[in-house]
Amino acid sequence: MGKFVGYVCSICKTEYAPGDVTYTCPKDGGNLDVVLDYDAIKSKYKPEDLLSRTDSSLWRYLPLLPVSVPKGFATPLHAAGGTPIYKLTSLAENLGLQNVWLKDESKNPTASFKDRASAIVVARAQELKSEIIVTASTGNAGAALAGMSAAVGQKAIIFAPKSAPQAKVAQLLIFGAKVILVNGTYDDAFDLTVKCAEEFGWYCRNTGYNPFTAEGKKTAAFEIWEWWQEAHHELHEDVGEEVDHKPLTVFVSVGDGNIISGIHKGFKDLQRLSWMQRIPRIVGVQAEGSSAIANAFHGNTETITPVSAQTIADSISVDLPRDGVRAVRASKETDGTYITVTDDEILNAIAELGRVGVFAEPAGAAAYAGLVKGSANGVVGGEDPALVLNTGSGLKDVRAAMQAVESAPIIEPNLEAVKRLL
Ligand SMILES: Cc1ncc(COP(=O)(O)O)c(C=O)c1O
Ligand SMILES: [Zn+2]
Repeated sequence: MGKFVGYVCSICKTEYAPGDVTYTCPKDGGNLDVVLDYDAIKSKYKPEDLLSRTDSSLWRYLPLLPVSVPKGFATPLHAAGGTPIYKLTSLAENLGLQNVWLKDESKNPTASFKDRASAIVVARAQELKSEIIVTASTGNAGAALAGMSAAVGQKAIIFAPKSAPQAKVAQLLIFGAKVILVNGTYDDAFDLTVKCAEEFGWYCRNTGYNPFTAEGKKTAAFEIWEWWQEAHHELHEDVGEEVDHKPLTVFVSVGDGNIISGIHKGFKDLQRLSWMQRIPRIVGVQAEGSSAIANAFHGNTETITPVSAQTIADSISVDLPRDGVRAVRASKETDGTYITVTDDEILNAIAELGRVGVFAEPAGAAAYAGLVKGSANGVVGGEDPALVLNTGSGLKDVRAAMQAVESAPIIEPNLEAVKRLL
């Protein structure tokens, strides 16, 4: 645990010791970056030491995490991360691209990217000896916290908007969390959760509030780094020198902005250790109806102006993103950009991904919709390598999925009826 040395505020740069603060900067409310003892890590480990570990989950990267191994080995808590990467050859061809991959985060234990964050927060809660963890959630963060908590016998309380998709609410209940549905938006649930945590002394996992969520999310960057060393090498052999100069572009869907910030943090950690020379370009994708961070990015400001969010992609439907400043920087500092997509484009993306065997929920498919738009307007083209993150499973929002396809015909159970149909 000695490698976790404190926090630095992303706004005012004030440094804090681990025991000084728990959530955001007391001076300006800025998100806190976790600081590690990079020199100590560097003197003890080389990249090969991590890459040769046999654990394929995110715990493979323990030397770069600010927590120690939590109790409850061989449980879902120890299965988060290590998600597969597929090459999308036919979809890439349709877009005039040659090198498109998808990292499928729906393969996490509770079927979304959020397991990465919740695994690390549960580990932190064990260190803090917190009796109860609470979170606000549009569904996935809550399901992840509920699942990871259930795995190790931790008590969890989840506040979600009453409009959360049924399957996500079912997950919360099945994992045995105390579930409280709020007659309001995700943002209302968020504010209420912070108040409850203060009032009752609960440990709050809220996205973009608890600094440890980004530490879990950064493990996806570590996996991308590891995979890219191989994939880049293969591309290089296939198409020659030229490709060597093309950076990888990563497409991430953005709500509160914590996934994109976490991934950026992971790449920055690797760069700080001199284990990665060039950070991939990071492209944030938001729904047109929930685009507070994209607006700030394109307005060339770090001031995040809230919107009244409305989109089919419930997981990225956020009025006031809680990690907006770092999310803007993730794209700005990596030569990326922000792309917004309509609900129709998201539904099309669900259908397209389905045709190659990937079932994404709307927020997950939004990243692919961003690639489609980005390939049309020159963000990526030709041989440019691009990686799309599918952040959540389509099984979590079947109602939205059914809007992406035509419904199946119902026929009488006889051969004639089948013949007529065909
Ligand atoms: C499936 C999915 N995709 C994307 C996001 C966006 O992550 P963030 O809110 O950290 O930007 C979420 C967040 O809930 C999610 O559940
Ligand atoms: Zn500050």
